[in-house]
Amino acid sequence: MAKKIVKEPVIELLALEKRFGFGDAEHLAIDNLDLRVEKGEFIAIMGPSGCGKTTLLNIIGLLDTPSDGDYRLDSQSVESLSHIKRAHARAKKIGFVFQDFNLIERMNVIENVALPLTYSGVSPTKRLGLASKMLANFHLSEREYYMPWQLSGGQTQRVAIARALVNKPAILLADEPTGNLDSKSSHIIMEELSELHKRGNTIIMVTHNPDLTTYASRVITMLDGKIDTDTKEDKVVEKNSAPKRPLSIKQRKAIKRKKK
Ligand SMILES: Nc1ncnc2c1ncn2[C@@H]1O[C@H](COP(=O)(O)OP(=O)(O)OP(=O)(O)O)[C@@H](O)[C@H]1O
Ligand SMILES: [Mg+2]
Repeated sequence: MAKKIVKEPVIELLALEKRFGFGDAEHLAIDNLDLRVEKGEFIAIMGPSGCGKTTLLNIIGLLDTPSDGDYRLDSQSVESLSHIKRAHARAKKIGFVFQDFNLIERMNVIENVALPLTYSGVSPTKRLGLASKMLANFHLSEREYYMPWQLSGGQTQRVAIARALVNKPAILLADEPTGNLDSKSSHIIMEELSELHKRGNTIIMVTHNPDLTTYASRVITMLDGKIDTDTKEDKVVEKNSAPKRPLSIKQRKAIKRKKK
């Protein structure tokens, strides 16, 4: 008998909650959220300011912990990982492009890009070699020894993406990667993310720009810490909606009778 292939999710969130503040000031930034992400998906997350997009990305990127619920990364519950194992998982599996670039101002471009390799035990010379290769991919070889303040917005964001990718993470998380860029630079960044997606990487990108969702294979909108809509390959899957089955003859007859 043929074996049934069951796709394992890379990311699975189950009844996830994140609370900020205490007592009367308590606020539920993520509210009972379920999400399953398969390997190789390119997900665009949209939603109004304050709906929890960055909070969700920070939890997925292991930069923050949920208040409740379960997060499974590669089928392993993150909660069960020690602090060190969690840091290792982050360094090995996840690349992060932040909303505000977050380059380290006192380091030059190549040092910034090499930084994530510090945590993965690569020698300093090899680190710079790998960073240099990555910068060449982004057409930034001539800017290796520039300081962050000497770059344009688009170049800065390309350096930030090169840094996020230098340790070849399977998952790239990007919070408004083109938020501060003009349309030409945005297009270049999106083409680069698209290339990554084609190479099999999983990408989760937060954006306010509906035009950019055309690059994604799945679009999720959030509202008040919950998933509002989830659109994949032209189908809209409303949260908590039961799968649609064909109607039985009895059901069809009942509908006909109602119409009469
Ligand atoms: N560290 C924190 N302490 C307290 N409240 C927080 C903290 N971080 C986020 N929040 C609150 O959680 C909610 C969600 O914030 P979040 O940054 O995730 O929104 P967002 O969807 O990314 O918004 P934007 O589109 O403006 O970036 C907001 O109401 C915010 O005030
Ligand atoms: Mg945000």
